Amino acid sequence: MHCLKMATSSIAILAFSLFSHLLLPTLLAISAQSNAIHAFPIREATIKDLQLAFKQNKLTSRQLVEFYLGEIHRLNPLLHGVIEVNPDALSQADKADYERKVKAAGSLRGLHGIPILLKDNIATKDKMNTTAGSYALLRSVVPRDAGVVVKLRKAGAIILGKASLSEWSNFRSSKAPSGFSGRGGQGKNPYVLSADPCGSSSGSAISVAANLAAVSLGTETDGSILCPSSSNSVVGLKPTLGLTSRAGVIPITPRQDSVGPICRTVADAAYVLDAIAGFDHYDPATRAASEYIPRGGYKQFLRPHGLKGKRLGIVRNPFFNFDEGSPLAQVFDHHLHTLRQEGALVIDHLEIGNINSLNSIANDETTAMLAEFKLAINAYLKELVTSPVRSLAEVIAFNNKFSDLEKIKAYGQDFFLLAEATNGIGKKEKAAILNLEKFTRDGFEKLMTRNKLDALVTPGYAVSTLLAVGGFPGINVPAVYAGDGEPFGICFGGLKGSEPKLIEVAYGFEQATKIRKPPSFKS
Ligand SMILES: *[C@@H]1O[C@H](CO)[C@@H](O)[C@H](O)[C@H]1NC(C)=O
Repeated sequence: MHCLKMATSSIAILAFSLFSHLLLPTLLAISAQSNAIHAFPIREATIKDLQLAFKQNKLTSRQLVEFYLGEIHRLNPLLHGVIEVNPDALSQADKADYERKVKAAGSLRGLHGIPILLKDNIATKDKMNTTAGSYALLRSVVPRDAGVVVKLRKAGAIILGKASLSEWSNFRSSKAPSGFSGRGGQGKNPYVLSADPCGSSSGSAISVAANLAAVSLGTETDGSILCPSSSNSVVGLKPTLGLTSRAGVIPITPRQDSVGPICRTVADAAYVLDAIAGFDHYDPATRAASEYIPRGGYKQFLRPHGLKGKRLGIVRNPFFNFDEGSPLAQVFDHHLHTLRQEGALVIDHLEIGNINSLNSIANDETTAMLAEFKLAINAYLKELVTSPVRSLAEVIAFNNKFSDLEKIKAYGQDFFLLAEATNGIGKKEKAAILNLEKFTRDGFEKLMTRNKLDALVTPGYAVSTLLAVGGFPGINVPAVYAGDGEPFGICFGGLKGSEPKLIEVAYGFEQATKIRKPPSFKS
């Protein structure tokens, strides 16, 4: 009941916030024309396909951006995957088209002319807002582009717009539904509209799945890339902590936050990672992590026989908790069979010694995050050039004052209140962080090193907390459409810096299975 009401009223809000600065008739004209102008099939095209089409004069960046703007106009009132489009996207496309004409072919960078959508917690110093989906940050002015945005612009990408998300990356309220934000409304799963899109990078996954953008960025603190990627049948790569800069990203905690690609294919995710990984002096963690970047980057690991000789671990308890003989159990048995057929050594029935403490570890994680969030968000808000709110306390007050706008009555802000009540990293938080480190050392790390594993294979995003608390990377690849058509993924997780292996494994699995298909918007 509540949900229905909200969905209706938020359409109006979104229509206002998304298109108030665009000329509607122009967009309609574009939408009608876009199929007629070019024969090149844009839907499901990869970065490589698009760049080849540019090169062969079958497509321009302007046509590509016009196509996506048209699709956003058509589908966003249903899907709520996008919060704002960039009023400069078309001029950036024109610039890319011009550069392609006048520059030597080899001098164009990796994402030249490719439109990318950014989760709305990633700062852009342009005509767009950066709000984590909240009206509290509308018209705040960021000091500079986020570190990853600096790198995207250098790589030639076109910033298409901002994707919706679970508000404040799902750190406002334990009661808010996935994919909901005051500004964005309720994001919808494009495969089964009534299904959970999952969050918090919901809009990035929804939009890429529905071909509203070529590629996107999401962020993860615990599950926020892996889960929506699994639920929306796309590839999401959560990098090793610090491999990608978190500077200029509305934070939860620098101890766990990570920025990564959400795309339709493993190859696209590797291309985007190549563009965004690396040192940024605004994020100290990038210094050590940049040592992990292989010479020549990540795309060299898109190898057809990437699974050959890989050691893949299976921990049944608690990750394969399907009923025996159930459809999902059968699908994953078949997938393990495929991995073996492709030359991987699948080491089954492994155990993580301390896995039974996962519940108490989740509590320790929350204890640490609440205090870390208060420090990190206050630092972020303080650094803004101008802002309606300057501290967590002021965000809470804003939410109370504008509770209708922010739908605060329905969902509250219990996380915010708990975080505000903390007072730095004290005894309790230090003990919690030590527990997390010990859990990682004696659990996941021991499992991986003792068995010399290249990756741990798990269904869906069930492994996310293990990867999150250790700062480890993981990648989701589409694995199945369940009975009613709801997507579900498979995750490959590894030790710090293991992205090359994870990309080989994920690419090998994807090429052997080719499961992803575009959504059908079932109600
Ligand atoms: C932010 O959103 C408001 C309201 O939609 C809009 O007027 C403004 O141009 C946007 N951008 C910035 C940087 O404030």
